[in-house]
Amino acid sequence: MPQSYAPLQAPHRLLFGPGPSMVAPRVYQAMSQPVVGHLDPFFFQTVEEVRALLGYAYSTSNQFNIAVSGTGTSGMEAAVANFTEAGDKFALFTNGFFGDRIGEMARRHGAQLVTHSKPWGEPYDPQEAREFIRRERPRIVAVVQAETSTGMYNQTQAICEAAHEVDAVTIVDCVTSLGGMPVLVDQNGIDIAYSCSQKGLGCPPGLSPMTVSPRALERLKARKSPVESFYLDLQLLDGFYTGHKYHHTASATMFYAIREGLAIVAEEGLEARWERHRLNHEAFVAGIEAMGLRMHVAQGDRLWTLNTPCVPAGVDDAKVRQFLLEKYSMEIAGGFGPLAGKVFRIGTMGYSSTAENVQLILQALADAIRHAS
Ligand SMILES: Cc1ncc(COP(=O)(O)O)c(C=O)c1O
Repeated sequence: MPQSYAPLQAPHRLLFGPGPSMVAPRVYQAMSQPVVGHLDPFFFQTVEEVRALLGYAYSTSNQFNIAVSGTGTSGMEAAVANFTEAGDKFALFTNGFFGDRIGEMARRHGAQLVTHSKPWGEPYDPQEAREFIRRERPRIVAVVQAETSTGMYNQTQAICEAAHEVDAVTIVDCVTSLGGMPVLVDQNGIDIAYSCSQKGLGCPPGLSPMTVSPRALERLKARKSPVESFYLDLQLLDGFYTGHKYHHTASATMFYAIREGLAIVAEEGLEARWERHRLNHEAFVAGIEAMGLRMHVAQGDRLWTLNTPCVPAGVDDAKVRQFLLEKYSMEIAGGFGPLAGKVFRIGTMGYSSTAENVQLILQALADAIRHAS
């Protein structure tokens, strides 16, 4: 039976959770450009621009910079699948949910997993980390730089240095740091980094930008067995993006989006962008402390992109979030796992990181806590 439908009308949410963050208007405009085919010269021109811009955003001279079709999890799985062969010793550093998830993937890809874990939101001791790696002598070492489940920034340099001493390759999750905090791939000794489009880059979810060092590419070429995942096989993806051979129908629209998001990063300049994130994060923390609340993560270890204030005693965090959604059309998130009901997770990242937004969040949060107390 014929029926008519009104055009879809999505609500205008204020996205201040752990991601997606607000999409930059210029990105929306780019996404309304005509779709071209995935083998069109204009598509490959965009791919090359994304390659160069990713080199800047990741602070690397790597040439293997690609955006994998899929969300951040696809980058994580690509990293694990391409650099793990059955029986490989895989050393995981974990102090949160996403660290644990890397371990789960490594197990599924047949790794012999050894884990150095800390409670959620506690830093690694560099000396302990070095000793763990020297003792275990793994082939792969993985760590999350920006742990979104806790709001913690993990230092990666000592871990990567020790990994290289034993000839391991390093995988670092930069999903919540790219475009908002220093990732510094070359300086930190990161071999494989992956991120997402929907946080610090101000785009919708849908792509996972990755970079791979020349030494990791050598490891890839020396694999004895084919990568289990066809879709995420980095050498096949290189054949597509560099060799222009069909692999899958990549979304031109998402490539326009990330090209624009990365162009905005380059125009602002990385240092200026980090400084904007740092200042807005510090203003947020000052406001939180003025309200009598505390932060979950110690000063100096906090993400500037994702803030985790503790839920005050006697306050139901679900009620706070519900109130913010209904009254302010504002999305924030709660904690989970050991932090369920204990922290809020509030994003100030990418296009969302402004002084005005910080004031708006603080004022709305104070209102919501009063309501939920
Ligand atoms: C640190 C970290 N790693 C991986 C992921 C997975 O990314 P996605 O949800 O885009 O698949 C997330 C998502 O928030 C994340 O925060």
